Amino acid sequence: MPDPAELPLLEVENLSTGFFTEDGVVPAVDGVSFSLMRGRTLALVGESGSGKSVTAYSILRLIQPPGRITGGKILFRSARAGEIDLAALGEKSEALYKVRGGLISMIFQEPMTALSPVHSVGSQIAEAILLHRKVDKKEARRLTVEMLGQVGIAQAEMCFDQYPHELSGGMRQRVVIAMALVCRPELLIADESTTALDVTIQAQILGLIKTLQRGLGCSVLLITHDFGVVAQVADDVAVMHHGKIVEHGTVRAVLKNPQHAYTRALLEALPSRRVRVA
Ligand SMILES: Nc1ncnc2c1ncn2[C@@H]1O[C@H](COP(=O)(O)OP(=O)(O)O)[C@@H](O)[C@H]1O
Ligand SMILES: [Mg+2]
Repeated sequence: MPDPAELPLLEVENLSTGFFTEDGVVPAVDGVSFSLMRGRTLALVGESGSGKSVTAYSILRLIQPPGRITGGKILFRSARAGEIDLAALGEKSEALYKVRGGLISMIFQEPMTALSPVHSVGSQIAEAILLHRKVDKKEARRLTVEMLGQVGIAQAEMCFDQYPHELSGGMRQRVVIAMALVCRPELLIADESTTALDVTIQAQILGLIKTLQRGLGCSVLLITHDFGVVAQVADDVAVMHHGKIVEHGTVRAVLKNPQHAYTRALLEALPSRRVRVA
């Protein structure tokens, strides 16, 4: 028997997700397989419409009708909850609630989708802590301020009482990252979460994700259409095209010697100075 710690944290096997429209079935994710090892960052890269978000939403079981998972497995080997096939969980199962509540966190492109405009940012993070951890209000506030500091917010005490609209886009994305990480997820999914930011802030946030990932020891599934982002933060990469994975390997191997014509086209579309293999 292999040591469970040496098996991938996330292993997607032959996953298919389709949308059942009046005009027929749209096979958005079509027999996709990839794996993510513990403590690593895997970039899922591909052009718009290639099926990246549908893959992420399938993992967290957030696909809404007329979409549904039509086949495959999503094996998640949690250190805290054991091996779970996310594709097989009931919509309202306790296990799914637990997964979404803290084992896997997701951050989206637009931070305002995750933040309530009418509550202070600190109270929103503290609420997430109170919901998932056995601590009192005072401790939740302390943990929140600590986390805001960890995501690089200098005046964390002051930030606690601010409202989302008072913050810049970059600061909001830091707050969202704090909220995602405060329950210590084993897997963080970031779906184009820096795409809307200008290049300098994007680089800062990507650097932050990398630092936190190392510090907290979680794994990251980073979704992007930008190979520059892949080169900056990912260890491994899976290239998606028309709902299929066309290439999967270490970033170094894929950037140095892309096998698939589509990967080469994605790389050629980039200003070359931005892609440097670490
Ligand atoms: N609600 C929906 N209804 C019908 N088709 C959808 C829906 N959501 C996504 N799709 C299809 O799935 C494909 C992949 O979408 P998506 O995963 O969002 O792409 P991206 O790689 O840009 O994240 C799209 O091209 C679209 O045809
Ligand atoms: Mg998307």
